Amino acid sequence: MYGTQQTRELQEQSRVLLMHAQIPGSTAANEIAQLRNLLRFHEYRYYVLNEPLVSDFEYDQLYQLLLRTENKHPALQTPDSPTQRVGSSLNQGFATVQHLVPMLSLDNSYNADDLLDFDRKARELSGLDTIDYCIEPKFDGASISLIYENDMLARAATRGDGVEGEEITNNLKQVRSIPLTAEFSRYGLQQIEIRGEVIMSKKSFDRYNGWLAEQALPPLANPRNAASGSLRMKDPKEVHRRGLDAFLYHVSFFTMADGWQKSDENHDADIKDHLEKGDPLRTHSGSLKMLWDLGFRSPEKEKRVVKGIQAVIDYCHEFEAKRDDLPYEIDGMVVKVNDVVLQDKLGMTSHHPRWAVAFKFKARQATTALRGVEFQVGRTGAVTPVAKLDPVYLGGVTVSSISIHNEEYIREKDLKIGDTVLIERAGDVIPQIVKSMPELRDGSETAIAFPRSCPVCKSELFKEETEAVWRCINIECEAQVVEKMIHFVSKDAMDIKSFGEANVRKFYELGFLKDIPGIYRLPYDKIGGLEGFGKKSLDNLKAAIEASRQQPLHRLVYALGIRFVGETTAKTLANSVENIFDFKDRSEEDLTQMEDVGVKVAKSIHQFFLNEQNLHMLKELEQLGLQLKNQKKQAVAAGSLTGKTFLFTGTLAKLKRSEAEAMAEARGGVIVSGVSAKLNYLVVGEDAGSKLEKAKKINTVKIISEDEFLELAGEEA
Ligand code: IVH
Repeated sequence: MYGTQQTRELQEQSRVLLMHAQIPGSTAANEIAQLRNLLRFHEYRYYVLNEPLVSDFEYDQLYQLLLRTENKHPALQTPDSPTQRVGSSLNQGFATVQHLVPMLSLDNSYNADDLLDFDRKARELSGLDTIDYCIEPKFDGASISLIYENDMLARAATRGDGVEGEEITNNLKQVRSIPLTAEFSRYGLQQIEIRGEVIMSKKSFDRYNGWLAEQALPPLANPRNAASGSLRMKDPKEVHRRGLDAFLYHVSFFTMADGWQKSDENHDADIKDHLEKGDPLRTHSGSLKMLWDLGFRSPEKEKRVVKGIQAVIDYCHEFEAKRDDLPYEIDGMVVKVNDVVLQDKLGMTSHHPRWAVAFKFKARQATTALRGVEFQVGRTGAVTPVAKLDPVYLGGVTVSSISIHNEEYIREKDLKIGDTVLIERAGDVIPQIVKSMPELRDGSETAIAFPRSCPVCKSELFKEETEAVWRCINIECEAQVVEKMIHFVSKDAMDIKSFGEANVRKFYELGFLKDIPGIYRLPYDKIGGLEGFGKKSLDNLKAAIEASRQQPLHRLVYALGIRFVGETTAKTLANSVENIFDFKDRSEEDLTQMEDVGVKVAKSIHQFFLNEQNLHMLKELEQLGLQLKNQKKQAVAAGSLTGKTFLFTGTLAKLKRSEAEAMAEARGGVIVSGVSAKLNYLVVGEDAGSKLEKAKKINTVKIISEDEFLELAGEEA
């Protein structure tokens, strides 16, 4: 899609833009066009190739730049701009739409014999000795169809009943691997319907379930459910949060510029005239390549074209063996006759095409007995029931306990002690109970009784009306104290290597550790005497604890284990302050102004910083030498304008002239008295006069507004 030279150029343009935050001497229209071009390029690197060339932060800066420029020039906004992916219509109903051709499903095969059978029929019908096949993964997600007209994404729909689906264009615009424009015209195509699968990668699935857990919501069972549930979300922003991907794998219909149409259904005797040899649309593998070249994520890299069915069987087995190593879930392979002319000849039955078949992998499900339920208390006091099962081997691991989340979940799944349950493990995803099997009950099963007092400290449990979770609210509850410390030292939090859960528990039980600051005051002399603590491991532990004092603020914010504050929110929070104690002065309302911070989250943060005990703990951590300041922000604040010259003219709306000048100076800027070639920035307020006119004549002077100055200074505009 992008050659080496072009990639280099685009990367260089990004670098220049990121440095100067504008294109010197460019018109708004040019700037917008260039930014769109760059964002599309970076989206492609990230979502299609999985090889980003800029950080998320840098991408975001380019995005914000485009957004600002477009907002300033509404006339230049177009629906295909990367900024238009963010739909805003809440409560969208979904219109029913007709697919251009029915979305048929595939016949299944389960073993080599089934595949041999499929091949035999295809050879008999075609009269050929050997058939060329294209094999690709069978993606385990939700089926979609996309229509592009005149190179623009015109409509996206769910599969529905195969004939009619629901229009979900706004939601699918959130899926960054679906281009909003694609140059189909290059291939003589005026209209095209493409089929594909929306999937959630294993990584996104884990991240999303982690987020759900932070919200005390039960996780989704598997990435397939997560993907299909996402398509019909009411709020496109929520779709965005789920980090979906789309693989496009089939062209079901197209209209050429000359009006000729080809669909899955028509058997066109003249097809060879329209799709000559070499035309990408003449073979299935050619269509995949075309889609790939146009910026779609097609299975171009995963597919293989082979001669004859034995090679098909081999490739299916080869892929099945590496199934767990893939970043996304697949539940089999799809085998397609590669030649489209031959596909057309083979046609279809009333249910399935005769030119394609799915090869299904063995399901990773098992049944086992639910023997009992244990109740665990987490760091926020949430009491989680954990089902104890007869150990069973499933997809590479032995499973003997599975979280069953909360009372509602137990009721929904109709779980009883003594039940036979069906469990499923999708790839490296945490196992789930799919369902119980009430038909196998013999009457000896017993209901799962939920405790009303904390299984650890015995204090009464509480449940908020809007929540499904029972909680122990005794903050001195041993279980919570220990879990909080385990969280604090964990990898994603303060990352204190060689500490870990086992040591937290051990030191706590021995009375060496009673709270988080205690981590930095461990009695090493006593620990040195413990079994398993030789000099080397003690040194390692000391060094790891020492190093953690320098962890950046966002890690500390996350490590505090504030309810609903996950890693992303912690970053947003940490970036918004200069010192952690600044949160004391933030109201709930202030907090909700931040991205990703809703009312519930804001309330939880606010309460955390109202609590004297928490503030006391933070003071202790500060004295112990931990990083409570946002160093990044301070660095930016101190030197971001170093050596740059400024002049203010006209009446500023937000700042007094003297304040603005002080702000520039505090960041290393220099205030000059007149317009000359030495001036870097002229900041223009209302009714600016001769200075502005003069500056316009000097190319090198950047003329900026007050808001732009504030942004430059790293302040909220
Ligand atoms: S081809 C007319 N290719 O599996 C042929 N389908 O029952 C259209 N699927 O409904 C389907 N990966 O949702 C095709 N590489 C792939 C696929 C694939 C997943 C799904 C699709 C379809 C079902 C087959």
